[in-house]
Amino acid sequence: MNRQRKKVKNVRNVSQSENEMTLKGGSKKQRRVKKAPKRVLLGLLCLLVAAGVTFGLGMWTSRYPDALNMGTACNMGNMQQMNISSTSCQTGNGTSANIPMASLQAPQTAVSIDEFTLTAQSAHLPFMSKGQTDAWTFNGTSPGPTLRVRQGDLVIVHLVNHLSVGVTIHWHGVAVPNSADGVAGVTQDATKPGQSYTYRFLAKDPGTYWYHSHQESFEETGKGLYGMLVVELAKPLTHDAVDTALALHTWNSTLAFNMSMGTQSFHARPGQWVRLRIVNTDNTAHLLTLVGAPFLVAALDGHDLNGPTPLTAVPVSIDAGQRYDLRFQMPKLGPVALLPANDNGQYQTAPRLLIGQERDFPSSLVIPKASQRVFDFTTYGHPAPDAITPNSHFDVTYTISLGYTFGFSNMRPGPVFTLDGNAFPHTPMLMVKPGQLVRLRFVNDADAGDHPMHLHGHTFTVLTKNGHLLTGSPVHLDTISVGPHETYEVAFYANNPGLWMIHCHNLYHANHGMDMMLVYPNISTPYSIGYTSGNFPD
Ligand code: C2O
Ligand code: CU
Repeated sequence: MNRQRKKVKNVRNVSQSENEMTLKGGSKKQRRVKKAPKRVLLGLLCLLVAAGVTFGLGMWTSRYPDALNMGTACNMGNMQQMNISSTSCQTGNGTSANIPMASLQAPQTAVSIDEFTLTAQSAHLPFMSKGQTDAWTFNGTSPGPTLRVRQGDLVIVHLVNHLSVGVTIHWHGVAVPNSADGVAGVTQDATKPGQSYTYRFLAKDPGTYWYHSHQESFEETGKGLYGMLVVELAKPLTHDAVDTALALHTWNSTLAFNMSMGTQSFHARPGQWVRLRIVNTDNTAHLLTLVGAPFLVAALDGHDLNGPTPLTAVPVSIDAGQRYDLRFQMPKLGPVALLPANDNGQYQTAPRLLIGQERDFPSSLVIPKASQRVFDFTTYGHPAPDAITPNSHFDVTYTISLGYTFGFSNMRPGPVFTLDGNAFPHTPMLMVKPGQLVRLRFVNDADAGDHPMHLHGHTFTVLTKNGHLLTGSPVHLDTISVGPHETYEVAFYANNPGLWMIHCHNLYHANHGMDMMLVYPNISTPYSIGYTSGNFPD
């Protein structure tokens, strides 16, 4: 600012002295004619300099720091909803209450262990044309293998990196111990090419989850580094005859169901129950429906709904990162199909999932119009007692405003998606203490689309939408889609100490500022985000 003012001042002096010179040499009229263009030029120059300085400053301040440590073992007093540039508190130099992040881990062993190896490697996928650049995959497919584990088991996953970039694995929706969260620069260094890393966590909650890289997650998830994780009930009361996991992903602007852009079919006999576990790995919502049989929305983000009621061809919108479990019973006659809608809300026949008996194929299903009201979880199913209700006593409430502006994010000019007016890593840190009941209020006051807000390490209960209580089943999520001019209140118990991210799962938004940290006190991490380590979680 000072520099700008000084320059303006200098410029003014120059023009004054020139003015005097002209006064000596000619009439008033001549002076005006001669002076005007010069003044305009100088004025313009002035503006340019000022604009340049503002531009440069804006660009520079948006730059990721060389090293930013998210630990909370120091600087405790003033962290609540404040901008923290760096707490620079490493393992070993914290207070006596220092909890090293690495100590927040699962037991080394258990009665029952499910062990997997996921190798990050490039691969040519079946639908890719010859010259097309390879996808980045786990074990050569995208989605990578669906990991099926049993509730209560210890899950051990070895990541082996055969790519030429750093990779991590984040277990989206799973309340893992902090050290297994897979966030580059917070819970680990990105696993370098040729190296490996081991994740260990207990599969506590049954349901549908997924995994993806959390190093440069916008790029790496987009290029195919993701897969699904299914935690099966320890003692299932019933078992669906068909239980299948389905990832939606867009490749070169064409949507795929798992690895297929065409028809994928499988068999089920009349009367059998079918469960489709669907995840949207893209950045924007997908609308789809099931035709041929009434269906239930059995679970959201892996958590069962109470008393789901049958829906007939109701459009279901699944936002980025969210999971929907749809269940249906095979009808006596005819096949059942899962169809996506295009951007204009018209259902498409490809990609599609076709479930039926051999003789049903190929079928001519009646394709409905997507004109029905979209599925609304705030009125679906039946109420039931829940651990957290809108009448609970909340120890702390944070309001997070979801915004949008133009400017710079990490030196790149363009759109910036903000939380409380700031872009990551300059966003506020939210401090929670173990045992607290925490309420978050997401307020989308911009017109920049929906923001599927995701909290790591915890599952929250949805309390209200636009101030209204839910009238149906309790709803437990890890990712909530907050549309333009919508407000949601959610709450959770702070029962998993660590350093956790909250961010928009439109990973383009996350990559352009929409991330923040939710942290517990006195935790130190040896890892840092930024250019020195090359850790960039978003
Ligand atoms: Cu699915 Cu922080 O991400
Ligand atoms: Cu967003």
